[in-house]
Amino acid sequence: MSEPSSQPPTAQSIDELTRSAAAELNTLENLEAVDRWRVSYLGRRGSLTTVLRGLSSLNIEDRRTIGAAANQAKNTLEDQLERRIHRINEEALQRSASQDRLDVTLPGRPPGKGRLHPTTKIVREICNVFVAMGFGVVEGPEVEWDHYNFEMLNIPKGHPARDMWNTLWVDYEDPAGENAMLLRTHTSPMQARIMESREPPIRVVVPGKCYRYEATDATHEWHFYQVEGLAVGEGITFADLKGTLYEFARRMFGEERRIRFRCDYFPFVEPGVDMSIDCFACQGDGDGCRICRDSGWIEIMGAGMIHPKVLEGVGYDTDKYTGFAFGLGPERIAMLKYGIDDIRHFYANDLRFLRQF
Ligand code: DAH
Repeated sequence: MSEPSSQPPTAQSIDELTRSAAAELNTLENLEAVDRWRVSYLGRRGSLTTVLRGLSSLNIEDRRTIGAAANQAKNTLEDQLERRIHRINEEALQRSASQDRLDVTLPGRPPGKGRLHPTTKIVREICNVFVAMGFGVVEGPEVEWDHYNFEMLNIPKGHPARDMWNTLWVDYEDPAGENAMLLRTHTSPMQARIMESREPPIRVVVPGKCYRYEATDATHEWHFYQVEGLAVGEGITFADLKGTLYEFARRMFGEERRIRFRCDYFPFVEPGVDMSIDCFACQGDGDGCRICRDSGWIEIMGAGMIHPKVLEGVGYDTDKYTGFAFGLGPERIAMLKYGIDDIRHFYANDLRFLRQF
């Protein structure tokens, strides 16, 4: 850095000053140093500023030529100053970008692990309980014939019981205009399909998806799951039904559970029942309980002794064979078990809901 000179400036001294200032500027690597440089040459007391001030001591002639050179020098240095600052910033940017580069030696980020859907969990839990009691697991078609969904279950065409199932029909009929196709409204058609294809003894559960022409609300979905159960053999009585389902309820909801059967109507069973368990939230107390709505009981499934007409329909000897069937809704059970207040959560694909299970 040159000391401000007290000598009157000459074209040569200005040239020298400019060169040495520019050379110095080019060695500076950071903005603080550059700013110190700016103060020392172009600041109020900087060397070049002093030179410019010294112009006043020159005669008119020199002042014009040397003044022009001095102004030129000032512009040059300001220009170079700006470029230097730009360059320093640019280099800093590049350094940080190269630090952000992909390091292939780093361990990978673990991919988000999926989990089982709450319905799947409950379906598996239900099936496992029955498997432990000697039942097999079978699945069946979701697109079904009217024949299996209704006819074989003792629900003939025009029968008022059809109104119990709000059906989604598929736009198809066989050439005779028979055998209408539909999305199965329950898993019960698998009762007939299984019995047609095997001889007793039969013990199976059938998990699967069902569909109904339903306006959705907190307790109704147009698609949902069911788990159907079927046991056929010699000498099967209502006592077997009770014993099996009682055992299921205890294994699923706790040893201390009590159960209750009430008469109900389903065309494919006789007698038909609905089965309730005493509420596991209030232990059957009822008062003020949100889960069982003050009743102390929770309905969990429909069941019954297989109607003789259903057994005849699949060609079984009704003097020899009897059986029981049941059907339950896993979403309803999950809702009770986890305190879920709206069935629509299950299939809304909201991860905030699904991650809780
Ligand atoms: N399929 C019936 C429904 O969707 C439920 C049902 C009731 C199934 C009684 C059965 C049964 O096997 O015996 O509402």
